[in-house]
Amino acid sequence: MKISQTFLVVAGAGVAFAVSAFGADVAANWTEHCAKCHGETGKGDTKMGRKLSISDLTDAKVQAKFTDEEAMKAMKDGIKDKDGKVTMKPIENVSEADMKALVAHVRALKK
Ligand code: HEC
Repeated sequence: MKISQTFLVVAGAGVAFAVSAFGADVAANWTEHCAKCHGETGKGDTKMGRKLSISDLTDAKVQAKFTDEEAMKAMKDGIKDKDGKVTMKPIENVSEADMKALVAHVRALKK
């Protein structure tokens, strides 16, 4: 009895830790959801980035062009170009909190 209770507590703590560790890993989210277009460093120097003529997120002038709210909106609703074609798709399977962390990550890309 005592042993199995201890086991459950330890196992439960392990799961909670794994979930929060995953949720907090903004760099992994960036790599998984953003880097294929924006590039690991945010420069947009990827095949997709060139195709979509993505701006260089390390450039302070580019960073000044959008607010944190707009960055959140870009992730939630996506971005369309002037012809109405979707260029950045809404990001799926990322929580609100993780999106906020991604905005901070984007801001930190600025050189
Ligand atoms: C399918 C390619 C693609 C992916 C994936 C993508 N983006 Fe974008 N993103 C774009 C394009 C295209 C633009 C608009 C052109 C530009 O301003 O660079 C853009 C613009 C932005 C902007 C500027 C917003 C604005 O209002 O000007 C931010 C911030 C941004 N992306 C963050 C992210 C983050 C964070 C992720 C990952 C969660 C992500 N993007 C994933 C293609 C992508």
